[in-house]
Amino acid sequence: MTVYANSPDGPVKWERFLAQRTQRMQSSAIRELLKITQQPDVISFAGGLPAPELFPVREIEEACNYLLRQEAKIALQYSTTEGYRPLREYLADSMSKYGIHHGPDNILITTGSQQALDLIGKIFIDPGTYILTGRPTYLGAIQAWRAYEAEFITVPLDDDGMQTDLIEEAIRSHTPRFIYILPNFHNPAGTTVTEERRHRLVEIARKYDLIIIEDDPYGALRYDGEDIIPIATLAPERTLYLGTFSKTLAPGLRIGWVVAPAEIITRLVQAKQGADLHSSTFDQMIANDIAQRGILKMHVRKIRQTYHARRDTMLDALAEFWPEGSTWTQPQGGLFLWARVPATINTLDLFYKAVEQKVAYVPGVHFFPHADGGHNAMRLNFSNAQPEFIVEGIRRLGLVMKQELAAH
Ligand SMILES: Cc1ncc(COP(=O)(O)O)c(C=O)c1O
Repeated sequence: MTVYANSPDGPVKWERFLAQRTQRMQSSAIRELLKITQQPDVISFAGGLPAPELFPVREIEEACNYLLRQEAKIALQYSTTEGYRPLREYLADSMSKYGIHHGPDNILITTGSQQALDLIGKIFIDPGTYILTGRPTYLGAIQAWRAYEAEFITVPLDDDGMQTDLIEEAIRSHTPRFIYILPNFHNPAGTTVTEERRHRLVEIARKYDLIIIEDDPYGALRYDGEDIIPIATLAPERTLYLGTFSKTLAPGLRIGWVVAPAEIITRLVQAKQGADLHSSTFDQMIANDIAQRGILKMHVRKIRQTYHARRDTMLDALAEFWPEGSTWTQPQGGLFLWARVPATINTLDLFYKAVEQKVAYVPGVHFFPHADGGHNAMRLNFSNAQPEFIVEGIRRLGLVMKQELAAH
């Protein structure tokens, strides 16, 4: 820690100066966990990280060289808040194949979809505003919206995603301003919302005049089954759709986007101007170059194959090494599965024992806004580790659990 020797009255009492809302801010549990799990000899299923050995490094290098040679005056300059127009045109076109018929003016490029979540908080959440979300839900959304002093109403998930038949009852307890939904290969649950439930959700949103935030970072990473119609297609008038290149290309580029009705894009643009003026011009142009040259499509095909195989490796290893009484979701895509362990095991306590055995996961409780579940569950990532490490990591976890069970 830095010592400020020239302060005669001792250290500044920073707490006294902090805004009230900072009391509700917390460090992301996962970011903290990642610090522990990043030791090189730990097999980590904790992060939501793509496989680094598959990053299209050479293609990105080519894009950088081209941009610096031919487009440096644009690529290194400030640009519009809305985002690089050719990239927005590409996105509008590629999403129309999924039935999302919005033009480039309905798209705002964001600094990862995490920024989109934050900007949504900035324009929609007053202190005490209720948000309806699944239980469990994406930790980063909880973190972003807590900072704006949101309250959460939660509805449990089952194997078909959020249980829409419980939404109306939840809405009657507290009227939310919006419903936050992860339609495909949920983080952390690995579940996908069925088409029937998507229609039901839209019906409810229309009946109660609510907006929907559809957060879809994993939609392009489907390994089995057919694509399901996006909620943004069913209810374009009241849905904000969030996409990102983080999982399909590279999270380090920090390029995401929001699709929304034009008047909301205007508001989000105003909110973004205060945050960072615009997302990195250079990074947007790299993503655009990779996408327009058809490299993105090929890359997604490649990672889909690899992640598909890794998912299957993890499912097989779970079946082989985990004790009776454990269950897990069978995700049709994405990066995660959600595993439930026998009821006498608390995954928060087990975490430290697992790390001693050099294997890590995220304890389930972190994904519950009210910490009212997930004590016997964990999120496991299957995209990041090589197959032999997946098998070994799952074996070690099975062993730690069996030792824990034997001790009870
Ligand atoms: C559901 C969900 N939303 C948003 C994000 C943030 O992604 P980005 O890297 O685009 O900010 C993630 C990242 O894991 C996520 O899982």
